[in-house]
Amino acid sequence: MKVATVVGARPQFIKAAVFSRALRKEHQETLIHTGQHYDPELSDVFFQELDLPQPDHNLGVGSGPHGQQTGEMLQRLEPVLQQEAPDWVVVFGDTNSTLAGALAAAKLGLPIAHVEAGLRSFDRSMPEEVNRVLTDHCASLLFCPTETAMRHLAAEGLSERAHLTGDIMFDSLQQHRKLLEDRTDLLERLGLQRKGYFLATVHRAANTDDPTSLARIVHALGDLQDAVVLPLHPRTKAALQAADIHLPPNVKEIAPVGYLDMLALQLHARMVLTDSGGVQKEAYLLGTPCVTLREETEWPETLVNGWNVLAGTDPKRIVEAARRPQPQVEAPQVFGNGRAAQRMVDLLQDDSLHGKRID
Ligand code: UD1
Ligand code: UDP
Repeated sequence: MKVATVVGARPQFIKAAVFSRALRKEHQETLIHTGQHYDPELSDVFFQELDLPQPDHNLGVGSGPHGQQTGEMLQRLEPVLQQEAPDWVVVFGDTNSTLAGALAAAKLGLPIAHVEAGLRSFDRSMPEEVNRVLTDHCASLLFCPTETAMRHLAAEGLSERAHLTGDIMFDSLQQHRKLLEDRTDLLERLGLQRKGYFLATVHRAANTDDPTSLARIVHALGDLQDAVVLPLHPRTKAALQAADIHLPPNVKEIAPVGYLDMLALQLHARMVLTDSGGVQKEAYLLGTPCVTLREETEWPETLVNGWNVLAGTDPKRIVEAARRPQPQVEAPQVFGNGRAAQRMVDLLQDDSLHGKRID
């Protein structure tokens, strides 16, 4: 079986590394990087750290407005997919690279599998929500991380294509978990104590593109008073500069970090504050309470027992949520058994062998 995987943004390199390892045991992979993320700390670092094979094709699309970026990807993906003629095109998550990969494949009549299918925020103003809904409806195989995702697909009439595989990011975390306890070099360099700091990430369009929301989040981080480490996404860095917003003295800006450092920072933080989907879930899996800087989440399982709290961008709500006591009840393990990637490969193979594709 020959599979073309399409990646482009930071969280996709992490997911693809796990998938690729499982796939390449018995099958052939063509790895296509759209070039959506191109800074070394958003791209190369993950290929090196996670042993993700170098892409067979790097389309070098780069940044731009949504339509232009997605259109460039479509244009550049088409000849590559045509030339490679894979049995499957696999896409991950909900970025513009995901949608472009799915659309390019659909137009060529190539079957698509979607990893992390069925997630919904029910907010169509989010670019990611549009990307994931359209991708799910183009795909023949839908790999769901959770029961909730399965229910969302059922409600859209997609049950026949949906499989509960578990979450591939949980596989990844399981594979690296034992390295994290002693990974404290970065903490030491930053002068931080275990459980003595907050970790924050902000990069969602709704938070960065609206200077008022961004200023409110920064204000809240300042109000926490204790040390806040902020690995800053380039989008957010540019937005802070454009709006002339200055970080308060307790907020320590650092460049985006590699995956293992990011997991270690989450494990050792007292609490995580984020608008990232992946980070909310990792904090939950690592047993670190989280404040989500949004009004909704695609990972409602993390809200159980108070491990994650939705606080939007209101400084008062954020600070209250960040000062809440540590949850007393353990976080239920609802993200699979750590073997999601292998299950996906088996389903792809099974489907190819038995010709069960839904076109
Ligand atoms: C994208 C995804 C988002 C995902 C995030 C992961 C879409 C619509 N959004 O958001 O779902 O959560 O990736 O991190 O696909 N930039 C750089 N260097 C880079 C890449 C980007 O400086 O290597 C800057 C550019 O100014 C660019 C901006 O960041 O315009 C936004 O990048 P883009 O890839 O469009 O979206 P993200 O915010 O990264
Ligand atoms: N991440 C990282 N370094 C950072 C910030 C995030 O390695 O500086 C990792 C994080 O641990 C998670 C993934 O990137 O595995 C999440 O990506 P991001 O927050 O960019 O996107 P989202 O999950 O919201 O789509």
